[in-house]
Amino acid sequence: MALLPIITLPDPRLRQVSKPVEKVDAEIQTLLDDMLQTMYEAPGIGLAAIQVGEPKRIVVVDIGKTEEERNPLFLINPEIVWASEELSSYNEGCLSVPDYFDDVKRPAMVRVRHLDRKGETVEFEAVGLLATVVQHEMEHLDGGLFIDNLSRLKRERVVKKFAKAARMDEIVAQRRAERQSEEAGA
Ligand code: NI
Repeated sequence: MALLPIITLPDPRLRQVSKPVEKVDAEIQTLLDDMLQTMYEAPGIGLAAIQVGEPKRIVVVDIGKTEEERNPLFLINPEIVWASEELSSYNEGCLSVPDYFDDVKRPAMVRVRHLDRKGETVEFEAVGLLATVVQHEMEHLDGGLFIDNLSRLKRERVVKKFAKAARMDEIVAQRRAERQSEEAGA
């Protein structure tokens, strides 16, 4: 298994719409295993393939808090076939929007149909935190981010903060490169 780099805001790939998986083969299973490992390591409780730069409709989820409680879910081409009218609110975060948390309201219960790790069609019902995580991750498959559910003011503030941080990183990297070339020249 391999750890994959997680992309973060403002990486434009996060806004890409992911494509359905046509066949669950060994390559997809390797991606599932690598994504799971990457998610545990982060640590996180859900990860969509686009977050590791793969525009495929794949999500891994595990809300188990300890190693003993682990119960990974592999969702390939997931679809919400039913959602409750009742909403619940969770303080959400995202590995692609590090260190930012905010409350998001989503249906409290959903029924999800998907292909599993063996490529078989299965359905399950999710409530509480699991329902939230599944919906949060599925939003990524359509190029969404949880901050899209916030007020425009809040969302723009977050987007600006990350864009500024990315520019600062670029400047730092550029200065470092300049210094290195100066030192090499001296
Ligand atoms: Ni996320």
